[in-house]
Amino acid sequence: MKVVLTGGAGFIGSNLARLWRRQHPEDELVVFDLLTYAGRRESIRDLERAGLGFVQGDVADYSAVAPVVAGSDLVVHLAAETHNDRAIVDPTPFLRTNVVGTGVLLEACRRHDVGRFHHVSTDEVFGSLSLDDPHRFTEASPYRPRGPYSASKAGSDHLVRAWSETYGLPTTISNCGNNFGPYQFPEKLIPRAIVRLIRGLRVPLFGDGKHVRDWIYVEDHCEALDVIAHRGKLGTTYLVSGENELSNRQILDRLLPSFGRGPEAIEVVADRPGHDRRYALDPGRLKSELGWTPKRSFPEALAETVSWYRGHPEWWEPISEVAEASGPAAARGAA
Ligand SMILES: NC(=O)c1ccc[n+]([C@@H]2O[C@H](COP(=O)([O-])OP(=O)(O)OC[C@H]3O[C@@H](n4cnc5c(N)ncnc54)[C@H](O)[C@@H]3O)[C@@H](O)[C@H]2O)c1
Repeated sequence: MKVVLTGGAGFIGSNLARLWRRQHPEDELVVFDLLTYAGRRESIRDLERAGLGFVQGDVADYSAVAPVVAGSDLVVHLAAETHNDRAIVDPTPFLRTNVVGTGVLLEACRRHDVGRFHHVSTDEVFGSLSLDDPHRFTEASPYRPRGPYSASKAGSDHLVRAWSETYGLPTTISNCGNNFGPYQFPEKLIPRAIVRLIRGLRVPLFGDGKHVRDWIYVEDHCEALDVIAHRGKLGTTYLVSGENELSNRQILDRLLPSFGRGPEAIEVVADRPGHDRRYALDPGRLKSELGWTPKRSFPEALAETVSWYRGHPEWWEPISEVAEASGPAAARGAA
């Protein structure tokens, strides 16, 4: 098979490329990535040496993306602008890449008869649950995005469904909770905290710290993507969840002891505007139809992540200042 991963130089994309090389060494694998601040050739350099193809380009540029998807059996679409704080400061790139880019890519795949298209999306499209809501999101939950990032991802999901219904493009969609693991840009909660703790700094915590996310180790997510992209029922959405509901404060409480630090290392900062309270997903369909289950326990995966960042300062040191600049204060200032 010829397989194209858009956004394959980003966090989840580079982990997926690594998993794909291991699981399907016979496939021709090509990463298509614009290399924004979040895309890093360093994350896939070893794979390129082992035969991974790489093309730099913008998914919103038809003339760049069409020749790459032409003749491919599968496109897995991960390219996106992904950071909520940045979306609040400037939503424009989110609209361009996540909405227009997805539309352009779908059209290129349709015109070139791509065999199959899998779209990687987020639980944030469903909006926010209250802390005491007994329900979790299901595939039937209504779309209620509340911020520019989630609204742009909701738009991309709608486009994928429209190309499936209208043109018969063979598509699947997955919506996943918060990922963590190696190669994640240190502007996101877990790697930001780890990198700051390694550097002996304090860690910012939004508001009361009770915002709950549904955490999953990136490799478990990638295994789900592999399964869905191969065996998922066309026209179907799957929810991917590690079923680890933890608040931001609980995450920090679990990280601090690994660095010999206590609560004094937490710096409470004013909340993000429009901050969703809780996400929680029911992965029942993915488990029962496709037999996927996450393999790592949360504590084991968190320990592996800490040890990866400890062992790879050459990966995060050059980007730590950029990551700091897109933090909570920037988002509050813009809203
Ligand atoms: N990280 C999470 O917790 C999470 C959870 C659920 C879903 N997702 C989704 O998974 C996908 C990957 O997320 P991530 O965390 O790896 O993101 P990331 O920000 O680490 O990587 C995004 C990648 O897309 C590339 N890119 C951005 N704009 C592009 C463009 N116009 N054309 C081509 N490439 C472009 C970047 O260079 C980067 O390599 C996204 O679609 C995101 O919405 C992420």
